[in-house]
Amino acid sequence: MAFESKSWLVLSLAVLMVASCMQQSVLGASQVPCLFVFGNSLSDSGNNNNLNTSAKANFLPYGIDFPTGPTGRYSNGLNPIDKLAQILGFEHFVPPFANLTGSDILKGVDYASGSAGIRKESGKQLGQNIDVGLQLTHHRLIVSKIAHKLGSLDNAVNYLKKCLYYVNIGTNDYEQNYFLPDIFNTSHIYTPQQYSKVLIHQLNHYLQTLHHFGARKTIMVGMDRLGCIPKARLTNNGSCIEKENVAAFLFNDQLKALVDRYNHKILPDSKFIFINSTAIIHDQSHGFTITDAACCQLNTTRGVCLPNLTPCQNRSQYKFWDGIHTTEAANILTATVSYSTSDPNIAHPMNIQKLLSSNSIN
Ligand SMILES: *[C@@H]1O[C@H](CO)[C@@H](O)[C@H](O)[C@H]1NC(C)=O
Ligand SMILES: *[C@@H]1O[C@H](CO)[C@@H](O)[C@H](O)[C@H]1NC(C)=O
Ligand SMILES: *[C@@H]1O[C@H](CO)[C@@H](O)[C@H](O)[C@H]1NC(C)=O
Ligand SMILES: *[C@@H]1O[C@H](CO)[C@@H](O)[C@H](O)[C@H]1NC(C)=O
Ligand SMILES: *[C@@H]1O[C@H](CO)[C@@H](O)[C@H](O)[C@H]1NC(C)=O
Ligand SMILES: *[C@@H]1O[C@H](CO)[C@@H](O)[C@H](O)[C@H]1NC(C)=O
Ligand SMILES: *[C@@H]1O[C@H](CO)[C@@H](O)[C@H](O)[C@H]1NC(C)=O
Repeated sequence: MAFESKSWLVLSLAVLMVASCMQQSVLGASQVPCLFVFGNSLSDSGNNNNLNTSAKANFLPYGIDFPTGPTGRYSNGLNPIDKLAQILGFEHFVPPFANLTGSDILKGVDYASGSAGIRKESGKQLGQNIDVGLQLTHHRLIVSKIAHKLGSLDNAVNYLKKCLYYVNIGTNDYEQNYFLPDIFNTSHIYTPQQYSKVLIHQLNHYLQTLHHFGARKTIMVGMDRLGCIPKARLTNNGSCIEKENVAAFLFNDQLKALVDRYNHKILPDSKFIFINSTAIIHDQSHGFTITDAACCQLNTTRGVCLPNLTPCQNRSQYKFWDGIHTTEAANILTATVSYSTSDPNIAHPMNIQKLLSSNSIN
């Protein structure tokens, strides 16, 4: 009996060691060495926590399903980018620029900031945020740190060519700018068509800078139907606001066209893909039975969760966590589909998996 239990223990230990070795090798073999993230609250993992702004999510019920509780993520659990990092085999989530303590910057950084947009003024009525221009300034700082680690700027840029870049920005240039005509003048100056072009023009400058710092494989994420988020419906008797959907469609069309211009003309040494968020979760598909209401209890003027109130129990049936942001369940679906879909309307001209296995470029 004693012998039996001892050999059982030895066997268990051996199994554990083999298992942990296998896990190490799986963990060591991420499909891409590094992932850099630019964007807004849909990708923020805590960059706003210490900013003077009301655009924060570092309190319950945000993070109720996240392993370490609230972190500043605008979700009940994982963001799309967290799930993508898992699919790609990263051992850790991409750390926020605001807290790189204990992180290896060679594996990537998340610069995204809630309420931020392409235009500097977007979302600033809520307080401070890190607009995309400033996110690139932060990236420049990280690039110089990587240059220091690798011995030269050339080495750094060559290393950065191997990374994956994820850019999901623009919704706040509408929700926290264009569609607030009492605060911002953009809708007095531009038609929706003109505004989409102005935004894409400015985004183009930023993406060229990112390319200059080595980005060669970039995921550009389009926006979901802005007029159908619960916050918009609340102001329209439960129905979608069509003019906001039209604006989002115009932006997405321009963004997709930009991706095509980069691939074929402007930056042929790199590959860009466009992810069509609108096409991933259709109403009441994939087990999402509630796609028009928030899971948490809302501050209805802001569309965000009120602190410390109990959210819905059946969270995986909801598309929306609060009035603006999607649930972990929706985020997992978004990441999984973007990675491997064969639907060219969702991932254009290819999915993330194909982007990564496409010829490495110089
Ligand atoms: C935070 O911002 C508000 C308004 O934007 C300002 O009145 C306040 O002084 C700021 N607080 C700090 C600590 O800077
Ligand atoms: C910073 O990140 C580390 C490692 O993830 C974490 O342990 C720590 O709590 C974070 N600090 C703050 C202030 O969020
Ligand atoms: C619009 O507002 C910005 C500040 O947000 C200001 O700089 C600009 O002059 C204004 N433009 C017009 C035409 O009123
Ligand atoms: C809002 O919706 C309700 C129920 O669908 C309807 O009875 C009411 O007339 C609507 N109100 C407006 C202002 O459209
Ligand atoms: C995204 O998908 C929707 C729904 O299938 C479609 O109507 C729209 O044209 C697509 N947008 C782009 C830019 O491809
Ligand atoms: C909702 O948000 C607004 C704007 O930040 C704030 O003034 C108000 O107090 C909030 N309402 C509740 C019930 O917390
Ligand atoms: C999900 O839960 C809410 C209450 O938390 C309930 O109103 C709703 O009917 C439930 N939905 C389904 C499909 O069970």
